[in-house]
Amino acid sequence: MADYETILVEQRGPVTLITLNRPKALNALNSQVMDELTNALAAYDADDSQGCAVLTGSEKAFAAGADIKEMCELDFADVYNRDFFAGYDRFTATRKPVIAAVAGYALGGGCELAMMCDFILAADTAKFGQPEIKLAVTPGMGGSQRLTRAVGKAKAMEMCLTGRMMDVHEAERAGLVSRILPGDELVAEAIKTAELIAGMAPIAVKANKEMVNAAFETTLQQGVMFERRLFHGIFGTQDQTEGMAAFIEKRPGNWKGK
Ligand code: CAA
Repeated sequence: MADYETILVEQRGPVTLITLNRPKALNALNSQVMDELTNALAAYDADDSQGCAVLTGSEKAFAAGADIKEMCELDFADVYNRDFFAGYDRFTATRKPVIAAVAGYALGGGCELAMMCDFILAADTAKFGQPEIKLAVTPGMGGSQRLTRAVGKAKAMEMCLTGRMMDVHEAERAGLVSRILPGDELVAEAIKTAELIAGMAPIAVKANKEMVNAAFETTLQQGVMFERRLFHGIFGTQDQTEGMAAFIEKRPGNWKGK
C-alpha cells in the first residue's frame, strides 16, 4: 500500500479505513491531503477485494476546514489558474461507497468533505458549519450546493451567512446526518455498516449509489427512467439470478461481481 503523510489507510477485510492525520492542524485540508485522499480513494475503487470505505478524522476534529495557512498567501490568479479545489472532483468520482464517520468539528471544507461522502454517521460530539464568511470568503468545495440540497435553503443560508454551527441533533433532524452514535462506538459502527455494504453484490451496490446520486442531477421523470433502465440492466447479471435464488432457497447469496 502506498505511503501517505497526511492520511492513514488500512484495509480491514473488505473495508478500507481512511483516517485524516494532521492532528496539530485539526486535520485542516491542504493540497497534500487532497492529493493523498483522492489517490487513496482511486486505489480503493480499483481494488476488487474492497467493497466499502470509511473516512474519519480524530475525536476532536473530522476536519476544521481547508488549510487557512496555505490559502492566506494566494491571490485570484493563483486559485483561478490552479482551479483550486477542482482535485476533489476525483473524490466524488469514486464509484464504490464512502461513509463519513464524523466526530468533533466538521467545518468549512471539513463539512464539505463529509458531504462528498455517500452518507454521514456522526458522534454525539459532531459539529457542522460553513464558517468561511468569517474569513471574508465563501465555501469552495461544494458546501453552498450540497448543504442546501441536504438541509434546505433556510438552514443552509443561515449557516453560510452567519457561520453558525449545527450540533449533531440539529444536523440529524435536518437530514445531514443519517445516524448519531456514541463517540466511542463511531468508528466500529461505521466499519460494521461498511462490512454490511461490502457483503452485498458489488454491481448492485454501485448501481444503487449511482441512482440515488442521479436524484440530484435530473428531473423526477428522468431520474425514474434512469432508475428503471439500470434496474432492467441488473437482470443481465449473474448476481441477480443468484440473489433471488438464494432468497427462495433461504441461504446467503454467493456473489460473483458479474
Ligand atoms: N486551517 C489551518 N489551520 C487550522 C485550521 C484551518 N482551517 N483550523 C485549525 N487550525 C490550526 C490552528 O491554527 C491551530 O494551530 P496552531 O496551534 O499552530 O496555532 C490548531 O489547528 C488548533 O486550533 P485552535 O487552537 O484554533 O483550536 P480550538 O480548539 O481553540 O478551536 C476551531 C477549534 C473552532 C475549529 C478553530 O480552530 C477554528 O475556528 N478553525 C477554523 C475553522 C474555519 O474557519 N474553517 C473554514 C476554513 S476555509 C474553508 O474551508 C474554505 C472552503 O470552503 C474549502
